[in-house]
Amino acid sequence: MEHNGTEWAALVEKVAEIARCTGSFLREERLVFDVGRVEEKNLHDYVSYVDRASERRLVEALTPVWPGAGFLTEEATVAYKGEPYVWIIDPLDGTTNYVHGQPPYAVSIALYGRTEGVLVGVVYDPCREECYTAWKGGGAYLQGKSIVPSAIQTVEGAYLHLGLPYDAVRFSTLSTALLSRFYGRAGGVRIAGSAALDLCGVAAGRVDAYVEPSLHVWDVAAGLLLLREAGGRATDFAGHPLLEGLGGDGVLRNDGYDVVAANAGLHPEFLCQVKACREVYFGENIPHDIV
Ligand code: IPD
Ligand code: CA
Ligand code: CA
Repeated sequence: MEHNGTEWAALVEKVAEIARCTGSFLREERLVFDVGRVEEKNLHDYVSYVDRASERRLVEALTPVWPGAGFLTEEATVAYKGEPYVWIIDPLDGTTNYVHGQPPYAVSIALYGRTEGVLVGVVYDPCREECYTAWKGGGAYLQGKSIVPSAIQTVEGAYLHLGLPYDAVRFSTLSTALLSRFYGRAGGVRIAGSAALDLCGVAAGRVDAYVEPSLHVWDVAAGLLLLREAGGRATDFAGHPLLEGLGGDGVLRNDGYDVVAANAGLHPEFLCQVKACREVYFGENIPHDIV
């Protein structure tokens, strides 16, 4: 798809407006939220009627923005049929925070092209009324102002975010290992509860680095583009890049995204420590079903 910079900027602004509008809906619904209508998809993995309503609004509003694009959405209110362009949507990232009336939470929207990778990324934080936007090759922005990651070069003194996957049976050992490695060594460690905003936090230099195993594509698609466009780096635990274009018959995975994100200078050391931490806990024999 051929678009010049002005056309991308206009398209991204349309998507940002849709994200802001849906984010305002989330914020207003929170004021009258019915906790009795929260369901558990898996143990401690919540979904509410607001997640689904938010998703339906996004699908309806985004449909005319890129005619023919498919939808890959967390709540599966529509089915992805393998279209070459696809909106990857998390209608409410941070549901656990939301149902408890706690910030942060976000709307996350990405436009992904099979060949090109992530083309557009928009993450809206309704609690701070802040919108992060990026398009491939066009830089990353917070409220329309260009953002860059922090300059800190060492884990010592860095401010880190960790994420905890819902599946504690599989991930408690690794998560505990990461916490014990960085707590006391880094300048601060937090678990904020929205992967999309964790990645945007690194992109904007608010957070120095972030690690979380086993995320879904809708948690990370927009945030990964934001981080890359800001000049930061994200890889999996083996140091491979994430969500770049697929060749030939490549299949867009829904899940299994392990994310190690940091400013470009800090990433090598951070990745090394994440790897060391895995090895210390699992030795040579990392079981296949554990990251
Ligand atoms: C979750 C959030 C959270 C992360 C979980 C995600 P959801 O998404 O991004 O920060 O730790 O792994 O599943 O379920 O609130 O959309
Ligand atoms: Ca999510
Ligand atoms: Ca969600």
